[in-house]
Amino acid sequence: MIYPVPAVLVSCGEMESEYNLITIAWTGTICSTPPMCYISVRPERHSYQIIKRTGEFVINLTTIEMTKKVDWCGVRSGREFNKFKEVNLTPGPSKLIKAPIVMESPVNIECRVTEIKELGSHHMFLAEVINIQVNEKLINAENGKLNILDSGLVAYVHGNYCVMGKRIGTFGYSVSRK
Ligand SMILES: Cc1cc2nc3c(=O)[nH]c(=O)nc-3n(C[C@H](O)[C@H](O)[C@H](O)COP(=O)(O)O)c2cc1C
Repeated sequence: MIYPVPAVLVSCGEMESEYNLITIAWTGTICSTPPMCYISVRPERHSYQIIKRTGEFVINLTTIEMTKKVDWCGVRSGREFNKFKEVNLTPGPSKLIKAPIVMESPVNIECRVTEIKELGSHHMFLAEVINIQVNEKLINAENGKLNILDSGLVAYVHGNYCVMGKRIGTFGYSVSRK
């Protein structure tokens, strides 16, 4: 019941023949220094063994335009489908790992697994973020800042994919002077 969460596309695989995509909602940031995040994956998923063996994955943020593809990748298995081909998404090179990025995603977070916690239904992959790629269109040319709100991110709320609402504040605004 902790919502909203993102519905991200996690890409994995060392060789093109095993590249796969899995939709993941149980994900988040767990440390700033070193930068770390997690994904929780059921062991029966096709992606589980790939990520466990390779120790790598990419978290690709997803947008309104991608949502139907994101959903499809979350209800079909890489055991039966080449998901990149089926949903027409493009694998591209990561900078520091072998797992591919999704070129259509605004932000690609390259992760290396540091620990697997076998919690129960889901096993939690704790991972260090070793590189991030960002679509250049989201970088303000004048000040170099990231305009993430312009990327059309989607929130996942209890089975529903939702467009994000309008901005109602910024970090620390509750205590800032007028
Ligand atoms: C919105 C959404 C979120 C999901 N979140 C997770 C998750 O956090 N962990 C998980 O193991 N499966 C999750 N799933 C299910 C997997 O994406 C799904 O079982 C997928 O078909 C597995 O693909 P694979 O067998 O190719 O690895 C989610 C599915 C959807 C649609």
